[in-house]
Amino acid sequence: MPTPLYDALKQYAAARPLRFHMPGHKGAFLPAPELAPLAPLDVTEIPPTGNLYEVGEPFDSAQGLWAEVFGFATCQFLTGGSTMGIHTALALCCKPGEKVLLDRNCHRAAFNALALLDLEPVYLERPWLESENLIGPISPDAVEKMLNLHRDLKTIYITSPTYAGVLSDIPQIGRMIHARGGKLFVDGAHGAHLPFLGVDAFQGADAVVVSAHKTLPAMGQSALLFANGFDPAMVRRRASVYGSSSPSYPMMASMDLARQWLLDRGAEAYRQTAAQVARLREDYPSLSRPDLFLDPTRFTLSVQDGPAFTRALEEMNIFPEMEDGGHVVFICTAQDREEDFSQLRAALDQLQDGLGPCPPIPAPPLPERGLSPRAALFGDSIPRPLEDCQGEISAGQIAPYPPGVPVVAPGEVIGKKELSYLRKIGYNMRSEARVILPR
Ligand SMILES: Cc1ncc(COP(=O)(O)O)c(C=O)c1O
Repeated sequence: MPTPLYDALKQYAAARPLRFHMPGHKGAFLPAPELAPLAPLDVTEIPPTGNLYEVGEPFDSAQGLWAEVFGFATCQFLTGGSTMGIHTALALCCKPGEKVLLDRNCHRAAFNALALLDLEPVYLERPWLESENLIGPISPDAVEKMLNLHRDLKTIYITSPTYAGVLSDIPQIGRMIHARGGKLFVDGAHGAHLPFLGVDAFQGADAVVVSAHKTLPAMGQSALLFANGFDPAMVRRRASVYGSSSPSYPMMASMDLARQWLLDRGAEAYRQTAAQVARLREDYPSLSRPDLFLDPTRFTLSVQDGPAFTRALEEMNIFPEMEDGGHVVFICTAQDREEDFSQLRAALDQLQDGLGPCPPIPAPPLPERGLSPRAALFGDSIPRPLEDCQGEISAGQIAPYPPGVPVVAPGEVIGKKELSYLRKIGYNMRSEARVILPR
């Protein structure tokens, strides 16, 4: 079965070369028995192993096979997570100084990219699902309204799926921006498995980033950027700005292998996971609305007190991905076995008094703007306890993590409603925020 990058690395290792090149372990030694088996495949850019940021083998084939699965013209391996993909995609889609329409649910990496590229954000209102106390799908009507208000908008940035597994109508939003000659970028960090399950999550986008490491059997930080209508040389060039010049070969080989494993038998295993999640959704209060387009493998449980419920689970040696006060999010993949689901069910049964409904959680406010993201992030600032920051302009992000979505982004005013929201969700008000020094 074709795994071009992994095969090239194995072939090089099998030839027992005299390695007078990086990394310093020389393929022979890493000082822990758990790491040592990886050493032979951990190489650098030499003719037999290729160069991630240049045309040629084995990367052309390895990335091409991924592009085929996702139905995109170009795939770029990333070794800095979707974080790197967000930076790369915005640099591809936008010119410095341009406006970008983005959902306010976007990951904190987006706000750093805005500052670095000096982009002008225009935010979509958070589509709050009152009944679920969660961010819902981006409404095409809301997009249309903003495109009409800002005729010069040429880029849209949407997060789909969300952390809770809610997908937006990407083809529809894509058509809207394409009609104006613009581009749609989708942060699909949580959706790398979806195309393998036959879920049409990303068609209609011009660029999509997915974190292989979040939902696939791939190593931490591994991610992929897919693009249509961009010169592949430009995709590589932009990606290289944000990546190490020594990208990790084990990480990239793990993506090569994950794709083939999914095609061979992993997709079927994911379908079984989706069936387990469907049963969990039936049996426990959780996000499962038929009117929503949901990731079939994401289990978003409603609980009365997120931190307390999560602590109780952790005491039982069960560690979910995150909680947001009223929900606990479980990332379920093909590697979760039947007995793992049984153990989870037993724990939920034991904690059933703490299950939903989740308490009403207010929609996060949309703060006022004080400065551009760039002026704020790179401006002079001082640390100050958050509770003393009312009225100040934030130099950084005030972002409960996970999900890492800033309540206040660089350049925004820390107002009364933002402080009250942070208090309500239990944010540590004594933690320090960085605020812009008065001139
Ligand atoms: C929606 C979203 N986008 C991007 C990222 C960043 O991904 P990575 O950790 O792969 O850099 C995350 C991380 O949690 C995320 O939730």
